[in-house]
Amino acid sequence: MALVTVKALLEAAEKGKYAVGAFNCNNMEIVQAIAEAAELERAPVIIQASQGAIKYAGLDYVVALCNSAAKNVTVPIALHLDHGTDLEQVIKCITGGFTSVMYDGSSKPFEENVAMTKKVIEIARAAGVSTEAELGKLGGIEEHINVSARDAMMTNPEEAKRFVAETGVDSLAVAIGTAHGPYKLPPKLDFERLEKIKALVPIPIVLHGSSGVPGDDLKKAIALGVRKVNIDTNIRQAFLATLREELAKQPDEIDPRKMLGPARQAMVEVVREKIRIFGSNGKA
Ligand code: G3H
Ligand code: 13P
Ligand code: ZN
Repeated sequence: MALVTVKALLEAAEKGKYAVGAFNCNNMEIVQAIAEAAELERAPVIIQASQGAIKYAGLDYVVALCNSAAKNVTVPIALHLDHGTDLEQVIKCITGGFTSVMYDGSSKPFEENVAMTKKVIEIARAAGVSTEAELGKLGGIEEHINVSARDAMMTNPEEAKRFVAETGVDSLAVAIGTAHGPYKLPPKLDFERLEKIKALVPIPIVLHGSSGVPGDDLKKAIALGVRKVNIDTNIRQAFLATLREELAKQPDEIDPRKMLGPARQAMVEVVREKIRIFGSNGKA
């Protein structure tokens, strides 16, 4: 099957009241693990690459790997740019084979974020590529951040309504208490804020920084309208923990496949578990 858009996957998720997993890739083993897990779970899936991943692997390699993944499975796969902050890079992804792009203007003032997001949407739409934007800043779970500072970083529901109306973006990433990377303590999600955003925003909501968020909290967020859940850290952890174990177990082995094979299998298991939490299993 050819790569599909994120928009198509999230429209189906909205109807079915589940979320689609968006898993970050950096290399072939990760792409293969995500595709295999999706196939085994009969789940639609999003493979995403950050600007850093593209710099590491090369845009052509990422696109080719994901096209191959899509051809090798019978479930729909979308290829999405994660946290595009550089307009030139976003355009390269749109013209280079990605089916969806995120423009992340969350660090910019509101009006500038709106203007840049609109520019990206105009180019993406013409190419049949779907879009994600972000409003609010992730992070703020560190103990030294006080309640009002934490609140100021989170997505304002009224602003989210205005942002979506002014830009016409296909999906919106929100800050409701999650953070990227490993958590020291489980995060406290602001479900009330999510509910308010959902009531005012008529498009699918995206949750970033979802590794380490307890399954029940993810399920609750999905029940309240989250339709795309981003996972990177938990895949990295599974990959490297297994790699370290295998290297220690087989100190004289010279065949990288003996190390990377088990590492890939560990990532398949992580992705399958997440897919079941998101309720997207059996939806393809
Ligand atoms: O949200 C960020 C993703 O985890 C990608 O991270 O920029 O290190 O590839 P990265
Ligand atoms: P985690 O690394 O915390 O899973 O976050 C992933 C993410 O949000 C990618 O955009
Ligand atoms: Zn993110």
